[in-house]
Amino acid sequence: MSQMPVKGNSVLITTMVGLFAIAVLGGLLIGKKRSTSETQTVAQPDSRGQFLYQGMCASCHGSEGRGDGVSAENLKSAPRDFSLRPWKTLIDLPSIKKVIVEGIPGTVMPGMKNALAEPDLDSLANHVLKLADQNPSPTMKVFSKTDRLASDAGFVLVANSAAPLLQLEDEQGNKLKLSDYKDKTVMLHFWGVQCPHCLKEMQSLLEVEKSFQGRSFVVLHVCTDEEDAKIAQQIASKYAPGIKIVVETSGIGLARYEVQTLPAFWLIGGGGRTLARSTGARDWASNACLTFIESLIPN
Ligand code: HEC
Repeated sequence: MSQMPVKGNSVLITTMVGLFAIAVLGGLLIGKKRSTSETQTVAQPDSRGQFLYQGMCASCHGSEGRGDGVSAENLKSAPRDFSLRPWKTLIDLPSIKKVIVEGIPGTVMPGMKNALAEPDLDSLANHVLKLADQNPSPTMKVFSKTDRLASDAGFVLVANSAAPLLQLEDEQGNKLKLSDYKDKTVMLHFWGVQCPHCLKEMQSLLEVEKSFQGRSFVVLHVCTDEEDAKIAQQIASKYAPGIKIVVETSGIGLARYEVQTLPAFWLIGGGGRTLARSTGARDWASNACLTFIESLIPN
């Protein structure tokens, strides 16, 4: 007898728990439904790029671009975590678009060829840029701000040591030394009259110089394959009227700066200390390049 009410109670309790569970679940479902529709109304206009990214890229690169998509585990080479550095390419719109279209040969990163119309390609690349701009993934090595700026511009930071000597001469036979610029940030630009990439980007380098006019910044365009400064100057002027070049006369300046491919760049800080180096042509007008240089110029 005494057990009956207990049984009755337990039935009652079970029923109540069941009802409660239904109520909670129902609430959850309703809540979930509401929040989904909320995120959708935000997500849709948010970007076409995000939409394309989720469909075409997230399976490898992860929905937040952290290189942790569902297919990532089975791949030989890890998909890029966009928040980390370094990247293989420059982190700017044209370079990202190029990677999307062409892929990365020798890796599983697929080229989309012309599957995307230009506006879609732009939106997608812009979304990748956004993902690249977020805070680095916490489990990985955290890069300093300068590291990131350098890497975005295609540079690597180097040990802060005394910049090797250079003996330079201009078209008029004036002798110049690095130490003549010790209050300035100096960009050494090693180029050659026989290097088509170098000649092609001369004008854009000249624009960079101009954009920092009046600031403590100078670019020395050191010709590496023509001893006669007059001849080198003539050729450079054809590609970038107004540019002033120099030649290296000691004969060992290139070795000291380990110049193996052209164009090559070194950034030397005030006081003649090495800051960063890089090789290869790039879009000098890009935000990444300008921001990095700006960050190295003393106020
Ligand atoms: C099948 C997996 C896969 C898919 C899908 C994929 N990627 Fe990748 N992606 C990779 C891998 C792997 C790498 C790294 C390759 C390497 O450098 O070793 C990479 C690298 C990249 C890079 C970095 C380039 C650099 O300079 O380091 C970008 C940008 C990129 N992917 C964008 C995209 C975009 C945008 C999409 C969608 C349209 C996409 N990827 C789709 C696997 C993928």
